[in-house]
Amino acid sequence: MSDMSRSGGSRIIAIANQKGGVGKTTTAINLAAALVEEGMRVLLVDLDPQGNASTGLGVDVEDRNYTTYDLLVEEAELADVIKQTDLEDLCIIPATVDLSSADIELISNEKRSFLLHDALRQPAMTEYDWDYVLIDCPPSLNLLTVNAMVAAHSVLIPLQSEFFALEGLSQLMLTIREVRQSANPALRIEGVVLTMYDRRNNLSQQVEQDARENLGDLVFRTKIPRNVRVSEAPSYAMPVLNYDPTSLGAKAYRQLAAELIANHQDIAAE
Ligand SMILES: Nc1ncnc2c1ncn2[C@@H]1O[C@H](COP(=O)(O)OP(=O)(O)O)[C@@H](O)[C@H]1O
Ligand SMILES: [Mg+2]
Repeated sequence: MSDMSRSGGSRIIAIANQKGGVGKTTTAINLAAALVEEGMRVLLVDLDPQGNASTGLGVDVEDRNYTTYDLLVEEAELADVIKQTDLEDLCIIPATVDLSSADIELISNEKRSFLLHDALRQPAMTEYDWDYVLIDCPPSLNLLTVNAMVAAHSVLIPLQSEFFALEGLSQLMLTIREVRQSANPALRIEGVVLTMYDRRNNLSQQVEQDARENLGDLVFRTKIPRNVRVSEAPSYAMPVLNYDPTSLGAKAYRQLAAELIANHQDIAAE
């Protein structure tokens, strides 16, 4: 793939929306798995104290000796915090509930917004040769999410196809603008992806229409359907792409990965 849209070899994407339950973690896990199927090497950073991405990829709490908390607060070594998953080209930095106190513990740290940025740009990172680093953000616009946005090249926004979906977006966009002004001028919006889409439901169609009217090309053409296989997969500690490779959910995440990769080739050609 082209390198022009990436710095230091890998493209860092924060998956963010301050609403909970909109499909951030599901998108992080399954987009990661789909990018791996495309031949990419991917690192998933679990930045949510709930640790759902870690659980969903089969990293038991007992195996989370070193976590994003250690990376950010204790300056732990990358080699210690990066864990291999069952997919060869997918690694994860897991999270535990420890991370929930980071906000307060870091309050007097002058570099508090740059901790993840600096951790992901240490020289040892280049040796891993990631194509993509996906950051699964918590459901809040707190210091952790700001760290993700300062560290990232772009923000990918899952939007649940339901009532009030667009309501929180202006706040999220404002935070992105503030991060651009203060710390990361090059931060782009990777795109908005409609999740849990039900094509038989008028409401889903209405949300899609509103999103496309308001956000135009920022909305991915790919929509992720509501699909029970997607919601079952985490309890088997697998991405849906592996749990049920032919399910509609698996197909949609493959399509999303292809669209994302194609967009990067467009950006590189600009
Ligand atoms: N496409 C989908 N089809 C069915 N269920 C989904 C889908 N996407 C997410 N879910 C379910 O919705 C819930 C919230 O998703 P999650 O990814 O954890 O959201 P967030 O990380 O934004 O809080 C989870 O139970 C998840 O399994
Ligand atoms: Mg989540």
